[in-house]
Amino acid sequence: MAVVGVMYNLKGAPPEEGEPPDLGAELDSESTVAAVALALRAHGHEVQLIEGNDTAYLKLLSNRLDIVFNMCEGLRGESRESHIPSMLEMLGIPYTGSGVLTLALTLDKPLAKKVLAYHGIPTPGFRVFSSPDEISVEGLEFPLFVKPAHEGSSMGVSSSSYCRDIHELTAEARRLIALYRQPVLVEEYLPGREFTVGILGNKNPIIFPVMEINFDAIPAGCARVYSRQFKTDWSDDIYYMCPAPISPELEALLKDTALKTYRALDCRDLARVDLRLDRNWVPNVMEVNPLPGLAPRYSDYPRIAEKGGWSFTDLVNGILECALRRNKMEHLIKPPFVKQIA
Ligand SMILES: Nc1ncnc2c1ncn2[C@@H]1O[C@H](COP(=O)(O)OP(=O)(O)OP(=O)(O)O)[C@@H](O)[C@H]1O
Ligand SMILES: [Mg+2]
Repeated sequence: MAVVGVMYNLKGAPPEEGEPPDLGAELDSESTVAAVALALRAHGHEVQLIEGNDTAYLKLLSNRLDIVFNMCEGLRGESRESHIPSMLEMLGIPYTGSGVLTLALTLDKPLAKKVLAYHGIPTPGFRVFSSPDEISVEGLEFPLFVKPAHEGSSMGVSSSSYCRDIHELTAEARRLIALYRQPVLVEEYLPGREFTVGILGNKNPIIFPVMEINFDAIPAGCARVYSRQFKTDWSDDIYYMCPAPISPELEALLKDTALKTYRALDCRDLARVDLRLDRNWVPNVMEVNPLPGLAPRYSDYPRIAEKGGWSFTDLVNGILECALRRNKMEHLIKPPFVKQIA
């Protein structure tokens, strides 16, 4: 049995005027935090709930924790997901999931794409702009896709992210730069099917069944984009196909690309990789989520884990057990083990 600090950032007050309407979309609801705590207690662990805010450091100093189950998306700043892990490292407290560098790198989508390119992992050609006056599409081919450079949970992603010409691109880039107060990433548009791949483990990770986002189920005329609107309005099972109806060859290629991405970015314990096919049917990586949402039956990661035979309780304890083994703390795991994941 371990003393586990469950750390999180809760959704706050609704956005004020001038703030993005989807502000805080990546933060957790109380019900998700409660579900994680319940799952850990079901396996005999003692749980302490700690909000990952600016008083967290003092609580971490005084509470005697064996390990932290980290769900903190961070409150502000371009490296916000790595703030709590930095405190934990300073205090010598082990934690679940990826480290400081990986969390900061993956939140910077352009930098993460440069690392993928170094490893020969397909990702769309791109440019980054901090001001609408700088925009030039040299070296890129329309249609293009524009999104904030440092966000998640589809914040700032909508049908107008899809741009057919320089006028549409400049208008949407101008809107996003002003609203999200950060640079935009302009990428070549991937016209093919979309998939997400969930990974759990370290030396020999488990790869859950591939999930396809079912754009054929959404109303005619809606853009084939896994937007904020899609994630909030269309959460029923018909919008998600898992396992995806694909050939064994494509399945193997998607899993292999996702695993190479996981290794290239030094991910630990868990992550979800989002991919889409380009016009030649080659899977391209759009981005990596080392802190995937864990809302039971809603977020993609627990949804696909369940299709792979992992209940929510198994999944949460599986993540913890990966981190305990990685930190040579397996004596704190009480048999029976969830499943043997190294
Ligand atoms: N280059 C692209 N071509 C086509 N569609 C894209 C491209 N980039 C992003 N998209 C669409 O926008 C969606 C959101 O993009 P992305 O995954 O980068 O954002 P996110 O906010 O980090 O997502 P998450 O909720 O997974 O954290 C994708 O799932 C996809 O549907
Ligand atoms: Mg995504």
